[in-house]
Amino acid sequence: MKPAESSKVVVNFDGKKCIHARRCVLGLPDVFVPGAEGAWIFPDRADAEEVTRVVDSCPSGALTYTRKDGGAEERPARVNTARLWQNGPVEYRGDLRIAEHDRVKRAVLCRCGHSKNKPYCDNSHLEAGFEATGEHSPEAEVQPLDVRDGPVTVTPTRNGPLVVEGSLEIIAASGRRLATRTKAFMCRCGASANKPYCDGSHKKIGFEAD
Ligand code: FES
Repeated sequence: MKPAESSKVVVNFDGKKCIHARRCVLGLPDVFVPGAEGAWIFPDRADAEEVTRVVDSCPSGALTYTRKDGGAEERPARVNTARLWQNGPVEYRGDLRIAEHDRVKRAVLCRCGHSKNKPYCDNSHLEAGFEATGEHSPEAEVQPLDVRDGPVTVTPTRNGPLVVEGSLEIIAASGRRLATRTKAFMCRCGASANKPYCDGSHKKIGFEAD
């Protein structure tokens, strides 16, 4: 889609990443109008600060912006997180480098194994009836890391898990801290008995993914 612009901000939309979390249409229904003929984003209908605040809340990163007025660009989260969605994907926030080429601050990545847009979620978990808790018990005595931000690389391994490297808090859907890691092997085949981590089950089920 062509970027949508006002005099102050340019809003970009990557439809392939959109999982209809609807933060935009609920946050600014006059600006984000799905189903409108042709263009559906009207950034000139609200203050640029409001538009960027709502874009920042888009979990998948389908929406991004650049400022034309010298206003603040989006900054990575102060604390890198991987949030487990109940029966759904993992939402990452931070200074993310995904599969080498995609440098973003927000992403929702598949953990059911069924997405046709791996490593990103495309809502296939709904059709697949994927079940996974978003509310694990925390590991005993989880303490925050000394460094909680900085780059996070997410590398999909062929037919295997995502290797996530960098300071990371793994949090429940509710936000509770469950674990901290500087390197994690995150299941993306949906079959691990030790979710959200890989336990090697991808081999047993013959999981295939680049
Ligand atoms: S990727 Fe799911 S068990 Fe390894």
